[in-house]
Amino acid sequence: MSAASRAAAAERAAGRFRAWHGAEPEGVWHAPGRANLIGEHTDYNEGRVLPFALDRGVVVAARGRGDDVLDIRSLQADAPVTVPLATLRAGSVTGWAAYPAGVAWALREAGQAVGGASLVIDSDLPQGAGLSSSAAIECATAVALVALYQVSVSRLELARLARRGENEMVGVPSGIMDQSASLLCEAGHALLLDCRTGDTAPVRLDPAAAGLALLLVDTGARHALTDGRYALRRAECERAARALGVRSLRDVDDPARAAEIGDPVLARRARHVISEDRRVRAAVDLLNAGDLAGLGPLLHASHASLRDDFEVSWPEADVAAEAAEAGGGLGARMMGGGFGGSVIALVPGDAEEPREAITAAYAGRGWAPPRFLPAPPSAGAGRLL
Ligand code: GLA
Repeated sequence: MSAASRAAAAERAAGRFRAWHGAEPEGVWHAPGRANLIGEHTDYNEGRVLPFALDRGVVVAARGRGDDVLDIRSLQADAPVTVPLATLRAGSVTGWAAYPAGVAWALREAGQAVGGASLVIDSDLPQGAGLSSSAAIECATAVALVALYQVSVSRLELARLARRGENEMVGVPSGIMDQSASLLCEAGHALLLDCRTGDTAPVRLDPAAAGLALLLVDTGARHALTDGRYALRRAECERAARALGVRSLRDVDDPARAAEIGDPVLARRARHVISEDRRVRAAVDLLNAGDLAGLGPLLHASHASLRDDFEVSWPEADVAAEAAEAGGGLGARMMGGGFGGSVIALVPGDAEEPREAITAAYAGRGWAPPRFLPAPPSAGAGRLL
């Protein structure tokens, strides 16, 4: 989002706030969605991830209230949701409002003196496209609430609390990647996050300078992390770690060790996670050496591993990744939790040939055309007004 369109988005949310509440918001905050360059299903295995923030996200116009109530409205939803904070319990709010309510609950559970607020939420992220629209709602709410109540919480801690809200209010056992990306990314950089230690480092990511571009392909197939398949993968990884006698798969360095696991399914799951964590480290080395093009084969290998070993890819993603590469892309892979959502492709300059190749491949199968989104590495959450 350009500075001008961000200002327009902030003004739009503020205008709606005025219309609904007859008062000025105290401020407007935003939090971006994310793409993940590489490191898929490594976060909850205490491994590394390399996401970057998108130029799209969620805007929240907010004002504190003295009655300890959250009044949550969204330009994308029909009805407002009113939540008395005193009655909040894990799982007590359902539907889209569980994401912002979960953040308030987690902050209060952590002893932070956060009270009521009126929140007006607007988003330009497609839902279920694997671009972390949920984390963007959580993180925009989080930065708004801590600013309204002048609570001092580090961004890393805020990411942990937003994730806790999602885990316990929404009931999705997601890892820490999405919230960290939304809160900690810097423009022009990916974020290397060690999900065990919480250590972070910005890694320069400037595709245009290399004559390249990162292209997101929303495959149109929709996913929901709440459908149980994500939780199943997570449980399989825990069993695989136990079978290898380690705390988590992060503790294994050699993908060949996965063969020590008797159960062939668990062995494949482990091989993906262990090899993917290695690919993240290799990607960081390449980026630090200024060799962005060198990432192509890593993206290709990541997709094959997610498709064949972790088994979370879906037909539209396989076709898009293959066509992107056939159309001159350097490498492409499915992104996010899987079973639907988006593909990320590293492509030459204007991305025209890979786009055409993907569009033709979809048309040839009688599928609806995919949606293409540019993905310039952008800044993390902050205040707009
Ligand atoms: C979803 C989760 C993340 C992460 C990815 C897979 O986006 O929210 O925590 O596990 O899937 O890498």
